[in-house]
Amino acid sequence: MCLQNGCTHHRKIGYLLLITLLVLVSGCSNSAYPIDHEQLSEDERIVIRFSHVVGEQTPKGLAARKFAKLVKERSNGFIEVQVFPNGNLYKDGEELDALNRGDIQMVAPSTSKLTPIVPEWQVMDLPFAFRNSSDVQDYLQGEIGQKLLAKLNKEGLYPLGIWDNGFKQMTSQYGPLIKPKDFAGQRFRVMPSTVIEDQFKALQVDTQIHSFDEVYQLLNNGIIDGQENTFSNIVSKDLHSLQNYLTISDHGYLGYVVLMNLEFWESLSLDVQKLLTDTFREVTEWEVELAQELNEKNQQDIEQCGCIEIHRLTEEEKQLWEDALQPVYRNFEDRFRAEYIEQLPKNKEAQASH
Ligand code: LMR
Repeated sequence: MCLQNGCTHHRKIGYLLLITLLVLVSGCSNSAYPIDHEQLSEDERIVIRFSHVVGEQTPKGLAARKFAKLVKERSNGFIEVQVFPNGNLYKDGEELDALNRGDIQMVAPSTSKLTPIVPEWQVMDLPFAFRNSSDVQDYLQGEIGQKLLAKLNKEGLYPLGIWDNGFKQMTSQYGPLIKPKDFAGQRFRVMPSTVIEDQFKALQVDTQIHSFDEVYQLLNNGIIDGQENTFSNIVSKDLHSLQNYLTISDHGYLGYVVLMNLEFWESLSLDVQKLLTDTFREVTEWEVELAQELNEKNQQDIEQCGCIEIHRLTEEEKQLWEDALQPVYRNFEDRFRAEYIEQLPKNKEAQASH
């Protein structure tokens, strides 16, 4: 029994406790997604099918998984990103069509693989165009980067941003690949980019365009002699075990534009878009560091395997490669506006110092 005043007092304390509890509970879950959606069917949730062509233990593979995990947690299962790695669902050359049709909602092709749609992205393939990842970031965050991304928008694509995978190295059955003439007569697998084909033409290499997941078999069957890729991609597919020579050249950049279908993106509520954008930004910061760490680790793995002869280009040798590859720049200049090359950080610095 309590007196009237005492009861009111206790009731007030009770209400206060209840409110505190509710605030705490809604603070623990994402307030926009308070219920657990795990039990709902795919039709009642948002399902984003994310297809990519590399292994799970690569910068892109790991970032895709992290993005999926965080999005699921933060939306209490309302948004589910289903990741399909290794080209299991769609291969190179198929995934953009699938995105267009709406069969999948998210992809992360290398910039080279966007060039059949927006040829200007070939600038990213120019040999020795970027000295390091910070050059790449400056370039892509600047005016040119914005233009390149806007061109994707016009093609019905929504770019969420860029993921990094560092720089490519050369591997081959025949070598060592030290001077430009050492490449002559070899057959290399390439990604679909005129600049990359021009690069190998200048080195007198025959090129064949193939999907990434086919490279191991092609090397194993002797259909190609060599290929170019980052350390993480080489190790993820064990390509070095099939090759005799590797040259550390850092000659070409490899990065990805993470894309959604524009129509799909615009169909999402602002809340959902914000959750995806914020999470993507966070994962991207993590991915850029991871790409550097993983490539360094995988370089060590290759150095320690004792299975391949490794040569690091000296500055003089690099200059010989750059001279031999000048026709690639001339071809590019004939086809695209001068600003793409003028705005490369190394060229801007050279202009500023004059
Ligand atoms: C390749 O095809 O060589 C790479 O671009 C694969 C990838 O997505 O990293």
